[in-house]
Amino acid sequence: MSILSNRAKSLKPSPTLAINAKAKSMQAQGIYVVSFGAGEPDFDTPQNIKQAAKKAIDDGFTKYTPVGGIDDLKDAIIKKFQRDIQVTYKRSEIIVSCGGKHSFYNLAQAIFDQGEEVIIPAPYWVSYPPMVVLANGTPVIVETTEKNEFKITPEELKKAITPKTKALIINSPSNPTGSAYTKKELEKIAEVALSKFTSIASLSEEMKKRTIIVHGVAKTYAMTGWRIGYTAGSEEIISAMNNIQSQSTSNPTSISQKASVEALAGPQDEVGKMVTAFGQRRNYIVDRLNKIPGVSCYKPVGSFYVFPNFSSYYGKSFQGKKIENSTHLADFFLDVAKVAVVPGVEFGADPFERLSYATSMEDIKEGLNRIEEALKKLS
Ligand SMILES: Cc1ncc(COP(=O)(O)O)c(C=O)c1O
Repeated sequence: MSILSNRAKSLKPSPTLAINAKAKSMQAQGIYVVSFGAGEPDFDTPQNIKQAAKKAIDDGFTKYTPVGGIDDLKDAIIKKFQRDIQVTYKRSEIIVSCGGKHSFYNLAQAIFDQGEEVIIPAPYWVSYPPMVVLANGTPVIVETTEKNEFKITPEELKKAITPKTKALIINSPSNPTGSAYTKKELEKIAEVALSKFTSIASLSEEMKKRTIIVHGVAKTYAMTGWRIGYTAGSEEIISAMNNIQSQSTSNPTSISQKASVEALAGPQDEVGKMVTAFGQRRNYIVDRLNKIPGVSCYKPVGSFYVFPNFSSYYGKSFQGKKIENSTHLADFFLDVAKVAVVPGVEFGADPFERLSYATSMEDIKEGLNRIEEALKKLS
């Protein structure tokens, strides 16, 4: 009998965190590494949000809260959904967890059983397949194409559905590609989902019943360290997640919950400023990447990632070492150019690398100069 469970042994650490760790350790040795690895905004959490957290501490709001989050925060989440997607949820259809990652983990634990299939379009966020496996589900990876902006088509979805299909994961805007589904595309996907699984019901109500939304404050409000995510779905699922959470983490941090009320319900000016800065960086980085011979880069519509295709460099060598895939190329960029990127294979798409532009414009320029120069060394 070994000390570790098979479950633990089968898991590898999150590759995005591993790359960041390697880049940070090089930086600690005094090496100037340009990091495109980070999955978090380089901006600080806005002042009004920090103030709300300080007030929570001063007011003594430092005890257990209800497992699934305080009513103030649930109400702010409900208002956010009404405002942004015009769907109305009740408090009993919302649960707050310790980050979007924890929200998805609890959701997977609540709904997947042995042998049930979960359709995951690739490129996918790195943690989806392992979290499905940890819940005994079976990931069914469906490859999407650059031509279709990395979005699953109704035909591809139809082909992937079997009697064992339990769920389809739609990550929009996507990490790592930054592509997002239009309303029309979602309607077509909904048609496929509904025609396969249900008989009658009005489209929107039925889709609301069948859709579980996982969201968080981390990226929009530069709050990655605060660990607040949330899920909206049917009462049945939310209540099962509540039970799981009550027996594992209990409530998410009380202070972070108060900060998140301010984030969601308070002034949104800082978000606008961050979006503007991200937009400028995106335009620059996409333009530069597309000018590099042999590189193509889809222009993302959301998130702060680009996902360029570098596969025309596979098969080339540097100092006798052949670059055969996205991992080799990422290693080459880190070792030779001192630039950190995340290999596409970690997201199920080997022709690509993921670059986060949640870093300064100066670093973006420097990093791209280095990438360009490094690629010239391959032959
Ligand atoms: C699709 C997706 N879900 C969840 C997360 C994690 O979010 P959180 O920090 O709220 O746990 C990320 C972050 O990279 C993500 O891209």
